[in-house]
Amino acid sequence: DANTIAVIPGDGIGKEVVPEGVRVLDAAAGAFGFELAYREFDFASADYWTRTGTMLPGDWFETLRGFDAIFFGAVGWPQVVPDHVSLWGSLLQFRRGFDQYVNLRPTRLMPGVASPLAGRSPGEVDFWVVRENTEGEYSSIGGRIFEGTERETVMQETVMTRVGVDRVLRFAFELAARRPRRKLTSATKSNGISVTMPYWDERVAAMAQQYPQVDVDQFHIDILTANFVLHPDWFDVVVASNLFGDILSDLGPACAGTIGIAPSANINPERRFPSLFEPVHGSAPDIAGRGIANPIGQIWCAAMMLDHLGHDAAGAAVLAAIEQVLARGPEQAPLTPDLGGSGTTAELGAEIAEAVAGA
Ligand code: NAI
Ligand code: MG
Repeated sequence: DANTIAVIPGDGIGKEVVPEGVRVLDAAAGAFGFELAYREFDFASADYWTRTGTMLPGDWFETLRGFDAIFFGAVGWPQVVPDHVSLWGSLLQFRRGFDQYVNLRPTRLMPGVASPLAGRSPGEVDFWVVRENTEGEYSSIGGRIFEGTERETVMQETVMTRVGVDRVLRFAFELAARRPRRKLTSATKSNGISVTMPYWDERVAAMAQQYPQVDVDQFHIDILTANFVLHPDWFDVVVASNLFGDILSDLGPACAGTIGIAPSANINPERRFPSLFEPVHGSAPDIAGRGIANPIGQIWCAAMMLDHLGHDAAGAAVLAAIEQVLARGPEQAPLTPDLGGSGTTAELGAEIAEAVAGA
């Protein structure tokens, strides 16, 4: 039976790239013989906010919770609604409400994409950053005292729970165990942060005992960031706390030159709730409405969503189609202006869909 997908285009170029993602999903479903049932929602957008004064309907949780996945575009239109209102009023509600405790992002060198890693070839750099998405350094526990005096003091606590740490580590170890290299790197800073980070290391060591087939190492976050740039080929699966993961999950794709086309997934691995797949980029008001947005970030999200739904071969075919079309370059393929071409969003989406259909 069909997987059910909630489609939420959101704002700006979200409304232009999401249909291309759906086009490619349809091509994959056709080629690999499975069904996807979509339902589109207009909330989590500035239009909805203008109409209703809220970003989401009161019953959003009940409305969305039964779907297998959420295919999300981008939210944000600062001329109409302030960014903290639009993001906190929608995306962050989904992440928390649906306990999406893993944030997953690929770092993958793609053919034909200009990257600071000159001299490396695609295939050499291909790893995942697994970020803890619910606790750690991003607790709101803290405060300010003696405000306005010389003794003004602020503090904010880091919270790590055994359940919270172990569940993200388990996801990362499971992912590493399924990959050919079976390697896991932990981001730490136990030489400077003397309570929480040694605990993190302890839990990594405990989990490693359950995965003898996975090769485990760890780096302090400072040298780890340097190694992302100097030795990106060392990595396979990198697991990190909320703050370190936030930094690494931007740095990795930036090293690979793909931040503009990178996807991201917010995952509830137990599938008690839907996971959410969204490109890293935002609504791009500066180019919205012109049909020139690059749809690859959204289409790469479609590949990740297919993996999550268990359609691994279809997910791999979508990724291969993206690479094949990119490799043809702006002369031979309708690449969008950000990739040096003069193709439109729809032309590039159709080209990738065609490559998937022929897979
Ligand atoms: P942005 O990612 O929307 O745009 C940054 C720059 O990259 C712009 O010059 C834009 O034209 C370009 N760009 C982005 N995506 C592109 C694509 N697919 N093809 C070609 N060029 C692309 O970030 P910005 O301008 O900081 O934010 C705009 C709005 O998006 C804000 O309201 C912000 O809050 C929101 N936003 C939402 C996110 C989300 O929904 N998860 C993530 C980031 C920003
Ligand atoms: Mg970030």
